Amino acid sequence: MLAWIKERLPFDGNQLRELTNEPVPNHLKRWWFALGGTPAYLFVVQIATGILLAFYYKPSPETAYESVRYITETASFGWLIRGVHKWGATLMIAAVILHQMRVYFTGAYRKPREINWMVGMCLLICTLMLGFTGYCLVYEQLSYWGAAVGANIAGGVPLVGGFIREMMLGGEGYNANTLPRFYVLHAAVLPTLLTLLVIIHIGIIRLQGVTEYRFADQLEEEAAGKKQYFNFFPDHLLSELILGLGLMVVLSVLATVLPATLGPPADPLTTPEVIKPEWFFYVTFRWLKLFSGTVAILSTGFIAFIMFFWPFIDARIRRHTRFSEASVWIGIVGVFLIIGLTVWEAVAAH
Ligand code: HEM
Repeated sequence: MLAWIKERLPFDGNQLRELTNEPVPNHLKRWWFALGGTPAYLFVVQIATGILLAFYYKPSPETAYESVRYITETASFGWLIRGVHKWGATLMIAAVILHQMRVYFTGAYRKPREINWMVGMCLLICTLMLGFTGYCLVYEQLSYWGAAVGANIAGGVPLVGGFIREMMLGGEGYNANTLPRFYVLHAAVLPTLLTLLVIIHIGIIRLQGVTEYRFADQLEEEAAGKKQYFNFFPDHLLSELILGLGLMVVLSVLATVLPATLGPPADPLTTPEVIKPEWFFYVTFRWLKLFSGTVAILSTGFIAFIMFFWPFIDARIRRHTRFSEASVWIGIVGVFLIIGLTVWEAVAAH
């Protein structure tokens, strides 16, 4: 059988092993250095559970809410699939943020990895947009008003705001075209974009290799002449698989103990007393509430711009000033600000 296949597909297992078996630096045995694999794994979980949800989900204002109710209450294991998808999104966003923090605080974005940092920023935006569009699909009160408020915020962007808002909603206001539009973005456009970006991201990592660090124990090993690398296959791959199994357990427990719920259905005529986005937008939402209209939107855009081009800004600071580790202090302030604003929004009634 094997010979029959080999005759038709002259596939060389050794070549594939050589191609994938890049030696991995020892510091990647520390899990926080290998956090990039976690969002990649969770993305696969999201695709698998998303396909199952798509078998039942019906993206129109008349049917969306009922189809989510059907998935949650009637379809076999629908509650589990929906719960895993919802918690998978939360964990994926958390993993992307933690991975970005690791990259930031270890300076792994510095020359020659500036481009990969920018690809990473696109991955972050794409992941957040997946979370936002997914939240809007349920068509419960909060997701309806979340979408409406999100579109209004986008509408406030100078010059292009009106265009973005209309593109998002498929018209002047929320209408019958809006939900299918969010669905196409959530289930087709953004996952395809994310897949392409991950391929580019990993491709660049393969070209450049990961940043090499030497910790005290590794320096000792080096002095003792021990090897500084381990095999991608099977050692690193097996660690990632074990991590994946652990995540599967965590996801199943979360989906069972804290299942995905369903709020009241969307009512376009009644604005809810409290409109809250998902937790990962709390920080932006609070920021936008702190400042008025255009100032809030322009300052948010400015922060995103700084984050995007941070490797170049950091290089200038290091070259022209004495504050070579300014990034660490800026990062610490940034993290406290993000946590502070998120907690503030979480506990605030309005
Ligand atoms: C879906 C999202 C993402 C996936 C699947 C992903 C995947 C990975 C993987 C597998 C690595 C190899 C080392 C490691 O595991 O840390 C890596 C490294 C890297 N990532 Fe990501 N990443 C994502 C998002 C981001 C984001 C948001 C940023 C920053 C804005 C970023 C910037 C980088 C950089 C600069 C490296 C090189 C690190 C080094 O050389 O040590 N990534 N990424």
